[in-house]
Amino acid sequence: MRLVVGKRDFHPRIHGSIVVDSGNSFGGSLVQRGQSAVSAPATSKNSPCADRLTVGMNDNLHQLRCFSCGQRIAAADARPDFRCAQCGDLFEVEYPDWTSGRAQDRPNPGALKWLWRERRSSGEWLDQSGVWRFRELLPILDSFGNAVTLREGNTPLYPLPRAAKALGLDQLFAKHQGMNPTGSFKDTGMTAALSVAKERGFNWVACASTGNTSAAMAAYAARAGLRSLVLIPDGKIAWGKLSQAMDYGAVTCQLKADFDGCLKLLTEIVQTAPIYLLNSVNPYRLEGQKTPAFEIAEAFDWSVPDHLIVPGGNLGNSSALGKGFRELKQLGLVARMPRISVIQAAGANPLARSFAAGEKGSSIEPVEAHTRATAIRIGNPASWRKAAQAINDTGGWCLDVTEAEIAVAKAELGTEGLGCEPASAVTLAGLKKLRAQGKVAAADSVVLVLTGHTLKDADYTIDFHRGTLLREEEAAGHEAEIAALRRNAVTLDPTPEAVLAAIEERQG
Ligand code: F0G
Repeated sequence: MRLVVGKRDFHPRIHGSIVVDSGNSFGGSLVQRGQSAVSAPATSKNSPCADRLTVGMNDNLHQLRCFSCGQRIAAADARPDFRCAQCGDLFEVEYPDWTSGRAQDRPNPGALKWLWRERRSSGEWLDQSGVWRFRELLPILDSFGNAVTLREGNTPLYPLPRAAKALGLDQLFAKHQGMNPTGSFKDTGMTAALSVAKERGFNWVACASTGNTSAAMAAYAARAGLRSLVLIPDGKIAWGKLSQAMDYGAVTCQLKADFDGCLKLLTEIVQTAPIYLLNSVNPYRLEGQKTPAFEIAEAFDWSVPDHLIVPGGNLGNSSALGKGFRELKQLGLVARMPRISVIQAAGANPLARSFAAGEKGSSIEPVEAHTRATAIRIGNPASWRKAAQAINDTGGWCLDVTEAEIAVAKAELGTEGLGCEPASAVTLAGLKKLRAQGKVAAADSVVLVLTGHTLKDADYTIDFHRGTLLREEEAAGHEAEIAALRRNAVTLDPTPEAVLAAIEERQG
C-alpha cells in the first residue's frame, strides 16, 4: 500500500480508491488506493509540489538533533551510546519538513485523522499496530516493510468512576499500557527501535532494565530473529518480567549492580561490540512511545485532556508523550497540549527533588534508589532534561509519593477491575496530591498512564493483601485505608456452610 498525503490538485476520480478532501486551509487531500496498490492516482507529475508531498512506504524523513546543544546529525552518524559527541547529551528524532514552516511540506491534519481511523478496520498487519497505524508521524525506516510488530498499541482508555467520585472529578481515565503484548508500555517503543536495529543489519540487541524493557526487547528480538542481551540488577526485578526475558530466549545476566550500574556497563560494552543499544537513550524508542499521545488525542476527538499523569523512572516515557503531544500541536492536529505531570517514588525521586527545590528540573542530583515499585527504582535517570521540558512546557508538575501511597492507590485501581504494576499506581497517588493542592480542578479531565500489567509483579499484590508488604513505619498514617482494601485469601473447610459464612462476613 502506498499513501500520498499532502497538497495536490485533482478531481476525485474513484477507481478502487478512496478519495478524501480534508477541506483545510491549504486545500490538502489524501488518496488511499486499494490495499495492494503501489502507485497513487493522478499524483502529480503535473503538480508543482508532487515530489515533496509523498509520504510513502519508503520514505525516511528524519535526522537527529542533540537535545542540549542542538547539533544536528544524520541518523547513520549516531554513536553506539546515542550520546552527542559535542556535549554528551541525548538526541531526539527530528523531521525537518515539519519544522520548515512551509505548510505544504507538512502532513495534512484532516486527511491523517481520517486515514488513521480508517486503518482500525484494516486487515493489514502494519495497520493493526497501534504504533505503525500512525506511521506518517514516525518516518524512521527506509522501508516500513522492515517493521517488527506484535500488534502493540491500541490500548484501552478506561473510565475510573470510583476514583473520580472519591476525588470529586467529572472525567478521570486510565490509559492502560499494560494491555500491550508483553504487558507494558515498552512494546510501543520497542517495535520502533528494534525495527531500526533490524533494518540496519544488527544481529545483537541489548538493554539494561528493571524488567519491562528486557521483556519487550527479548520478545521483539525473537520475532525478528535477532539475539538479545539483557543486563538486570540481581534480585531487584519482578519474577514475571525475568521469566519473560528467559522465555523469549534472551541471554539474561543478573549483575550485582543497580539499574544505573547496569546501564553504565552496557554503554561501555556497545562502544566496542556490534550490539545495538535499546534503552530509552535510543531516540527511536521514544518515537514509538509517543504514539499513545496520538491515541489519547484521537479518543478525545482531537481535543486533549487537561492533565496527563505519568510515572517517572528513567524518564523516557514522559519525554516521549510530551514529544507526541508537541508534534500533534505543531502539525495542527490538536490546539493545545495537556499539562504533563510526572510522579516518582519517594525513594527514587531525583527529578521530584529538583522541582521541590524550585529548580524545575534545571539540574538533578542522582540518588541511591529504593522502592518496592521496582520498575522505577532508578536514581540517575537518563532522560531527565527531556522530561523536565515536557513538564515545564505544558505547565505540569513533578512530585513524589510514598510506598504506602503507592500500595493504597494500586489496591484502589484493583477495585475498579484494573490491575496494574505498583509503578503505574504512582499516577493515582500523585493525582490525589495534585487534587489536594488545588492543581487539578473538579471540572478538569485527567488521564492516568498505567504502564504495566498487574501480573508482572504478582508478589507485590499478594504481599499487600497478606499484610506483609509494608513495614510498620511505612504504613503509618494509612492503616485504616490499607485495612479497608486488603482482601487476603481465606483457607476454609470444603463445605457450603463455610463458604457461605465467608461471604456473610465480607458483605457490605
Ligand atoms: N512503569 C513501568 C511499569 C516501567 O517498567 C517503567 C520503566 C516506568 C514506569 C518508568 O518509565 O523509565 O520511561 O520513566 N521501566 C524501565 C525498564 C526502566 O527497564 O523496564 P520511564
